[in-house]
Amino acid sequence: MGSELLYRGSETQPSSDSYSPKPVKPWASVTRPIHYLLREQRLLFVFVGIAIATLIFTVFATSPAPYVAPHSRFTTLIPDSITYFPIETQQKFSSAHRLGFGSANPTGKIPLGLKRKGLRIVVTGGAGFVGSHLVDRLIARGDSVIVVDNFFTGRKQNVMHHFGNPNFELIRHDVVEPLLLEVDQIYHLACPASPHVNCFVSLTKPCVLHKTNVVGTLNMLGLAKRVGARFLLTSTSEVYGDPLQHPQKETYWGNVNPIGVRSCYDEGKRTAETLTMDYHRGAGVEVRIARIFNTYGPRMCIDDGRVVSNFVAQALRKEPLTVYGDGKQTRSFQYVSDLVEGLMRLMEGEHIGPFNLGNPGEFTMLELAEVVQETIDPNAKIEFRPNTEDDPHKRKPDISRAKELLGWEPKVSLRKGLPLMVSDFRQRIFGDHKEGSNTNNASSS
Ligand SMILES: NC(=O)c1ccc[n+]([C@@H]2O[C@H](COP(=O)([O-])OP(=O)(O)OC[C@H]3O[C@@H](n4cnc5c(N)ncnc54)[C@H](O)[C@@H]3O)[C@@H](O)[C@H]2O)c1
Repeated sequence: MGSELLYRGSETQPSSDSYSPKPVKPWASVTRPIHYLLREQRLLFVFVGIAIATLIFTVFATSPAPYVAPHSRFTTLIPDSITYFPIETQQKFSSAHRLGFGSANPTGKIPLGLKRKGLRIVVTGGAGFVGSHLVDRLIARGDSVIVVDNFFTGRKQNVMHHFGNPNFELIRHDVVEPLLLEVDQIYHLACPASPHVNCFVSLTKPCVLHKTNVVGTLNMLGLAKRVGARFLLTSTSEVYGDPLQHPQKETYWGNVNPIGVRSCYDEGKRTAETLTMDYHRGAGVEVRIARIFNTYGPRMCIDDGRVVSNFVAQALRKEPLTVYGDGKQTRSFQYVSDLVEGLMRLMEGEHIGPFNLGNPGEFTMLELAEVVQETIDPNAKIEFRPNTEDDPHKRKPDISRAKELLGWEPKVSLRKGLPLMVSDFRQRIFGDHKEGSNTNNASSS
């Protein structure tokens, strides 16, 4: 059988007089197209084509700035100059600015082919006042955002305009319970911010604030560690307590009463900062810490007792403005779009912080009351009440670190920002839609 197969194989060998194909000329495949191009001036057309393509790429070589959703009411306040790079890209090219497409890019345009990839970002407390504005910016930038909120002080209405957007998810969840999500960044805001709410909570539900600040922060740091996400903590100027240094620098360690009625918030945030740094040093988590000073703007809770919202709501309802103490204690007031810009720059930059994010313009409570009178009702009365325990006498951020390392400083003055908040409050208190449409027209001061 085997020999038979061998024999048949030898039969198929070509005989000497069978057909042999024409040998291929070695250069024909190169010379033939050249001849063709030279004939009938085809080369000229090739050059003209190259010239047109070069012209198009030179003139229109950038993609437009990221789409800004029409519902994003405050985007006009925010310079469109920051351009984001995923963390891994940042690490490889830490000098993105030098390449001409970092935050220094004055046109806000990104070269074609280098358009940033959207990230998956968790915003805890994203249905609250600051969180919802941050979510607007992140969504407008093209990221996918997951809001985690238990609606303790936040409202679904603050983020409802994103419902139906495939880049947006809302999870009702208390951060004191663990959660597993695959994300690139975590903005951890979950925590009621009003001192009045916090005092009330500390009396009626002891430990809730500590649990939120301590267990909640631990859970989110644990998540960051597990999935390799970058973590940003929104701490507060309250970590300085009743400060003995003025203005307050980040290097100041503060003067906090650890057993007072406000300490559940102040000490809770101080512990959250400690945990954040522990996770950074001990577990290599990439962290950022912002110390936020008084912030105001649309979507603030109307009756949570914070001074700006208090005065505005009282003036609109024709009630007297309540000033606690002699009204000479000072605060600084930052418009929310300035804060959001600072938070995003911090998250995307290379510095851990802590960074003071606040407006250094300093006002006494009485001066604030006057601005509210000017804006809403010159006849609004002022009523003095005894001051609350441990109310700080002075607050003013030193923001030189943020200016130098984040290239950030607030742009919206109190007199520019307050009318925007008033329109929003008027709409929510009286259902008056006439002025609501103006709320996105603040210009920087
Ligand atoms: N607004 C300011 O002036 C200011 C100043 C300093 C620091 N901060 C910090 O900024 C962050 C946001 O403040 P804000 O003014 O938007 O306050 P906010 O009360 O409007 O928002 C807080 C959000 O966190 C949610 N939340 C609270 N506890 C939670 C929990 N256990 N689990 C899940 N969600 C929870 C609330 O429902 C709310 O949506 C807070 O961490 C606050 O401490 C704010």
